[in-house]
Amino acid sequence: MLQSVPKTVKGTRDLLPELAEKFRFIETTASHAAELYGFREIQTPILEPTGLFVRGLGDTSDIVSKEMYRFTDAGGDDLVLRPEGTAGVARAFINEGLSQHVPLKLYYRGPMFRRERPQRGRFRQFGQFGVELLGVEKPQADVEVLACAQRILKSLGVMGTITLHLNTLGDTESRAEYRKQLTTYLEQFRASLSKESQERLDKNPLRILDSKSPEDQKIVEDAPKLESCLTESAKNFFSEVKQGLARLGIKYVVDDRLVRGLDYYCHTVFEFTTTALGAQSAVLAGGRYDGLIKDLGGPATPGVGWAFGVDRLAELLPAREAENPMVALVPLGPEAETAALTMAEELRTAGLRVETGYSGNLAKRMKRADKIGARLAIIMGSEELQKGVVSVKDLKDGSQGEVPLQNLAATLKLKLKSAWTVA
Ligand code: HAM
Repeated sequence: MLQSVPKTVKGTRDLLPELAEKFRFIETTASHAAELYGFREIQTPILEPTGLFVRGLGDTSDIVSKEMYRFTDAGGDDLVLRPEGTAGVARAFINEGLSQHVPLKLYYRGPMFRRERPQRGRFRQFGQFGVELLGVEKPQADVEVLACAQRILKSLGVMGTITLHLNTLGDTESRAEYRKQLTTYLEQFRASLSKESQERLDKNPLRILDSKSPEDQKIVEDAPKLESCLTESAKNFFSEVKQGLARLGIKYVVDDRLVRGLDYYCHTVFEFTTTALGAQSAVLAGGRYDGLIKDLGGPATPGVGWAFGVDRLAELLPAREAENPMVALVPLGPEAETAALTMAEELRTAGLRVETGYSGNLAKRMKRADKIGARLAIIMGSEELQKGVVSVKDLKDGSQGEVPLQNLAATLKLKLKSAWTVA
């Protein structure tokens, strides 16, 4: 029987070299920026016990109620492929006894899994990079993680289409009062709400505020505002966050409909959204989660952080030239080919990226040099080699000249450096 070729699972994809390199560039840039703020890397498992997310994210969140890759393994354990990173960091904080090290600043990167409907910018396996600042209850922490977020987006050159949306969910008291008022208001329209919102009305009415359905949006327009239920201290907290951002010149818009989809948030919530990606506009999102670690059974520890979608930032990333462009060796004839083998190794030892082409005449090898995006081609004829020189062609501007074999690596490096700076 003819078997069909196995394909990637729906919503997952292969990151071919160009995209994989973008991912690495984004993650490296973000790690360097996060390290400027004192964050250090943590790696937690991709496999986690299901209970972590049910308790941490709330069983009414979309993630827990319908998007988790959940399964029972051969030993009968109830497991999940992690849908996000915050709960895992909180679990590690508790398990590893990290409370004695607060304030603690951690960053992480890696794949997350959510069984959502795939579309542009939305995958079932996607990359996240996130930071978590644990143990600081002051609004300065919120300001600092936001400053770090903006620094990363700026250094990636993607801030042009991006706006920071900011809101507060207040403290527990503010939210309890608001929940009461909002439920009373929405109950009058129960029958006109979308089916999903009718369910949310009983379990998590705040989520109705960011419903995408037009009938819900009309009803929500006149709903009471959370702002009117904020306690004095919640109001002060939010003011201090806003003042801190203003002091650092970080622009934001307050968006009182921003509630976020995970149950662990309180006080500050935020999203950096872009106009360049269609419906999946959130590139970086997060907020404060003072109750999470306690809810998971750990010592009461405040936290604030965010995560960005690497896939989404990769799509926004402006084109970049290779930082260490390829050098192609083009040996002509068997003697030169033998010499090319050792020359390639010597040049690599000097830190150059070298490709030897393997076979073919001059035209074929030059074509391949072009195809792999080489910046320089070293044309090696046996007569020239005997004279102790090679011919170096700049594949960008077409210029060509002889270069002595002595100090070849240094000369090539200089050439590449000036080419790179001029470009
Ligand atoms: P989140 O808003 O669920 O928050 O995800 C953060 C970011 O991950 C989103 O803004 C988006 O860029 C990206 N993302 C989410 N789902 C997908 C998807 N299906 N495909 C591609 N990209 C996606 C969190 O995960 C929180 N843990 C953030 C946080 C950290 N809050 C506090 N600390």
